[in-house]
Amino acid sequence: MLIALLPGDGIGPEVITQARAVLEAVCGDRLTFEEALVGGAAYKAKGHPLPPETLDLAKRADAILFGAVGDPDCDKLERRFRPEQAILGLRKELTLFANLRPAKLFPELADASALRPEVAARIDLVIIRELNGDVYFGEKGMRTTADGRREGYDIMSYNEDEVARIARVGFETARARGRKLCSVDKANVLETSQLWRDVVIEVSADYPDVALSHMYVDNAAMQLVRDPGQFDVIVTGNLFGDILSDQASMCVGSIGMLPSASLDANQKGLYEPIHGSAPDIAGQGKANPLATILSAAMMLRYSLGMAAEADRIEAAVAKALASGARSADLGGTVTTSQMGAAVLTAL
Ligand code: IPM
Ligand code: MG
Repeated sequence: MLIALLPGDGIGPEVITQARAVLEAVCGDRLTFEEALVGGAAYKAKGHPLPPETLDLAKRADAILFGAVGDPDCDKLERRFRPEQAILGLRKELTLFANLRPAKLFPELADASALRPEVAARIDLVIIRELNGDVYFGEKGMRTTADGRREGYDIMSYNEDEVARIARVGFETARARGRKLCSVDKANVLETSQLWRDVVIEVSADYPDVALSHMYVDNAAMQLVRDPGQFDVIVTGNLFGDILSDQASMCVGSIGMLPSASLDANQKGLYEPIHGSAPDIAGQGKANPLATILSAAMMLRYSLGMAAEADRIEAAVAKALASGARSADLGGTVTTSQMGAAVLTAL
């Protein structure tokens, strides 16, 4: 099976190197890897953050393992050339509309959580974030108002089909877990959210076995730190999901720990850590590769039908943590490659 490796910018290449080594150790020659440039690295070498050959590889591959994109050198570029457009383009071009962001506390990391240990201990949730719509992909621009003032705008919208298909992923995910689905919106203010809520309720008729609740996003942000144990599956839009998943990551110890899967309707997927390119620590061996290693495990499970191998990787990560391996984000001094080596040893 062919894996597209897209390391990207900043700490992306460092964490991808570790994840590849783990995949090679677990899957041997069942996987082949092909690498391509993406993000700022691709812009600098080829003039575009998502060059045609990179998109082509992503389409040809059985699954995609992605590092991170984002480069301060590129912040002043016209938006279509910025590194972030690469990941947004991949999500859109491959119709990767369903983003699964599980957040579960490794008991060994209770001390690293921003929450009290007894609160953090109960976290075991999945955020299902819609990835192909919302304010991310609506009309946007800069204009000048009648009185000569600058104005930026980004239109938020969802149509009912987009909401229904992500709602179904939410219900199916809940059905396979704790049978509780919380839909997060801002229906008290936004029409987009009112439609979202109406459609989620309509879809719920097909899932009488799943308990559906609704929460406004501001309250959800508060509840995530007050009592995260109340959540099983959260389904929400692109923007709210972006924000809430970063928040959930600190509840489980570090943003360096959270993997994600972005899936199309046929379980083809792109797998990436939820963290960014972290240019401030790039190249220093400080990055935690575990989010990427756990993303590789998700890839085996969801796209490649290798659940047993995925279990082995996840168990090895737990074992590496239990052995005391802690990267800087977890309050330790273990380097990126030492953390990868700890996982290999545990395997
Ligand atoms: C994420 C990231 C991206 C997003 C950026 C890099 C465009 O923050 O995957 O959460 O906003 O979706
Ligand atoms: Mg984000």
